[in-house]
Amino acid sequence: MNIAVFCSGKGTNLQAIIDAVKKGEIKAGLSLVISDNKDAYALVRAKNAGIETFFIDPSRFKTRDEFDREVIKHLERKKIDLVCLAGFMRIISPCLVQRYKNRILNIHPALLPSFKGTEGIKDALEYGVKITGPTVHFVDEKMDHGPIILQAAVEVKDDDTEETLAERIHQQEHIIYPKAVKLFVEGRLKIEGRKVKIKDQG
Ligand code: GRF
Repeated sequence: MNIAVFCSGKGTNLQAIIDAVKKGEIKAGLSLVISDNKDAYALVRAKNAGIETFFIDPSRFKTRDEFDREVIKHLERKKIDLVCLAGFMRIISPCLVQRYKNRILNIHPALLPSFKGTEGIKDALEYGVKITGPTVHFVDEKMDHGPIILQAAVEVKDDDTEETLAERIHQQEHIIYPKAVKLFVEGRLKIEGRKVKIKDQG
């Protein structure tokens, strides 16, 4: 199985997946990293790991659909089976979702369905929840919406700032994202409507 990761920023989740592949915890190849941001540190991480990178300049495309058709060309060229969105700051168009149906994962820094969107950590903190945490889910046509694979609970402390809370959420992300990828690669995820059943969960 062949994985591609899409990133726009720091790429700490990409790094967690790279490390899990290197250690043999995820038995798959990670052969492509795509970014819509040429300055994303994720691209440096990928290059350091010897992974092919591709920067697709969004300004070259008039629509999201055109952008994603270019993305699909690269995924097909590299024979990609699984796409992992890891801090990819673009909404995926229906053509890409359909082409890789139930084969695109995303990580969101809040417990979905709460606090969708780009400010999941800040919104949870401002709302005053006592528990938050990341969610790994399948991607469907709606943003932050597809069937949930794994979540982790993170306690919100009275003196938390967005930064301190983010740090603890990211620690959990780096555990549950590689774990979800491993489950996918091992064929242990079964989608039943909105639910994801995990086979042989010990
Ligand atoms: C993570 O917080 C993830 O939940 C969100 O974007 C952030 C990406 O961080 N979707 P990084 O680039 O993996 O460090």
